[in-house]
Amino acid sequence: MFSEVGRRLRAFRAKNPDAKIISLGIGDVTQPLAPAVIEAMHKAVDEMSKAETFRGYDDNHIGYPFLREAIREHDFRSRGVEIDIGEIFISDGAKCDTANMQELFGADNVVAVTDPVYPVYVDTNVIAGRTGRAKGEGQYEGIVYMPCTAANGFVPALPEGDVDLIYLCFPNNPTGAVATKEQLRQWVDYARGRKAVILFDAAYEAYISDPEIPHSIYEIDGAREVAIEFRSFSKTAGFTGVRCAFTVVPKDLQVYGKDGDGIDVNGLWNRRQCTKFNGVSFVTQAGAAAVYTEAGRGQVRDTIRIYMDNARMIRESLVKLGYRVYGGVNAPYIWMETPKGIGSWDFFDELLEKAHLVGTPGAGFGASGEGYFRLTAFGRPDDVREAIRRFDSITA
Ligand SMILES: Cc1ncc(COP(=O)(O)O)c(C=O)c1O
Repeated sequence: MFSEVGRRLRAFRAKNPDAKIISLGIGDVTQPLAPAVIEAMHKAVDEMSKAETFRGYDDNHIGYPFLREAIREHDFRSRGVEIDIGEIFISDGAKCDTANMQELFGADNVVAVTDPVYPVYVDTNVIAGRTGRAKGEGQYEGIVYMPCTAANGFVPALPEGDVDLIYLCFPNNPTGAVATKEQLRQWVDYARGRKAVILFDAAYEAYISDPEIPHSIYEIDGAREVAIEFRSFSKTAGFTGVRCAFTVVPKDLQVYGKDGDGIDVNGLWNRRQCTKFNGVSFVTQAGAAAVYTEAGRGQVRDTIRIYMDNARMIRESLVKLGYRVYGGVNAPYIWMETPKGIGSWDFFDELLEKAHLVGTPGAGFGASGEGYFRLTAFGRPDDVREAIRRFDSITA
């Protein structure tokens, strides 16, 4: 999808070299790192410059205790969730962790994904040979697709048959939907009943503003037995170019071989990471830990407020213009219905031609994304205001 977006953009630019194009399509952040993070990283660089404080490999490969302890306190204990630091694995991205986790599981395990979906979950299972052939509309044989539509509030129904690995992402990219405690409880109960594993991507939890919405799947009783959670500093603290994330693999989580014997996933993931990964740089981890200081927390919150003000501006203006719009309240993504039911790629072309605006066609995220269009709130506020003005030239 993103290469097709790039191709169309290049073609448009070649014909319209003077057009000032604004992108509301990117999932990348635009605000700088928080001052507390910069200060901590500078200090860490200074430590690396002296023999007494220099650090080489992170001995245990899975992250310095100072960062894992800060995560345990601020991301989990503060929400009433107890996570041991031996269950927290620091990495260089939630993309690689969500991509790599499937390596631990059998080639014949059945994977369930939402439709629309963050493409990494699907493509990595295709690469691993866990699916059949492509069958059109970007779908693959052997994968269970769970449609997320306006009718179900973009939270999928439980699959009818047995599945082994379930990828869920809340707050969701691309729909901006969130799941309530009750909805997540149904998933946890399902997974416990079927011995399935939930791969829960919470990369956008920092954008939740509704106090009733869970930030972690471990806020649900029993989730420690069936769920792995992925988090990232990318969107929480502007680390897309710095690279730091973490994954929680509870020690209570067991999977079952054909003989029915339980296997400890925490130990397997530890082994996988220590075999294939040599840790995140000390400077980066020092910067990530600064996100949890009092100053860091406030600064990061201020940045998130800038993005969520963008989201509100986009949402409110589109609603005023007569569009049907979802998301953008507890997530930095706005999921809009295309006007008059036109195809999402046709809307992409129209928006580019008439308003010089770029968004992401919903169909690129899966068959159920057709008729939708994703806008992100990560732009600079001035660009967002200008983009909103240009939307006037498109009729809803
Ligand atoms: C749902 C989701 N998970 C994970 C990621 C990747 O995060 P990271 O930058 O930590 O690799 C993204 C980034 O766009 C995302 O949208």
